[in-house]
Amino acid sequence: MRLETDRLVLREWLEADKPRYAEIIADPVVRRYFPEVGTYADADAGIERARQRLVEHGYSFLAVERRSDGQFMGMLGMAPFRDELRLAIPGAPMVEIGWQLGQSFWGHGYAPEGARAMLDFAWRTFRPPEVVAITYKGNLPSRRVMEKIGMRRDPDADFEHPDVPQGHRLRPHVLYRIANPALRDD
Ligand SMILES: CC(C)(COP(=O)(O)OP(=O)(O)OC[C@H]1O[C@@H](n2cnc3c(N)ncnc32)[C@H](O)[C@@H]1OP(=O)(O)O)[C@@H](O)C(=O)NCCC(=O)NCCS
Repeated sequence: MRLETDRLVLREWLEADKPRYAEIIADPVVRRYFPEVGTYADADAGIERARQRLVEHGYSFLAVERRSDGQFMGMLGMAPFRDELRLAIPGAPMVEIGWQLGQSFWGHGYAPEGARAMLDFAWRTFRPPEVVAITYKGNLPSRRVMEKIGMRRDPDADFEHPDVPQGHRLRPHVLYRIANPALRDD
């Protein structure tokens, strides 16, 4: 799987991405809305899971590269929710879109650009009825990306993230939705 936009390539993971992705998720600023920074083992496991999901479902979280210089930028893509998380979210949604880029790439609209391409791919290929995105309530940059790509918050779907310890300040999460345009009746 490979998607190209004006400035980005979204592609399958390479072994060489593992240390670079590990560096991104070890950055405490990148991870300020997560309970912990990520380790090399987390990067390795996340990439292997993404590869597996691509084989199983035909879409996944992908590696993001900048077209102008080939630099590895981070992760962006879609995946089905795993059951434990899905069942903790009101309405038990099926497919999420998500992103995580290295700090030096922030603020140029790269995440919305990649996310629009990913949504477009979804509507053309596996055609989910809707796609959702979730994040910690206070993660305003991520919420801005959701708004920029036309997602709308569903305040009735706020939830407590089951992977974050009870009582932790990062537990309250919000959910944004976008419906498949082919199924909209407006
Ligand atoms: C969320 C994220 C992917 C946004 O990517 P991006 O390519 O910078 O997106 P944009 O350029 O459209 O910026 C989105 C918002 O981020 C914020 N932002 C931009 N540059 C920033 C910077 N240097 N520092 C902090 N926030 C910044 C702004 O609020 C911006 O909104 P605006 O364009 O209305 O001002 C990126 O911030 C990131 O990787 N964050 C860490 C990982 C994370 O939290 N992922 C989401 C988990 S749910």
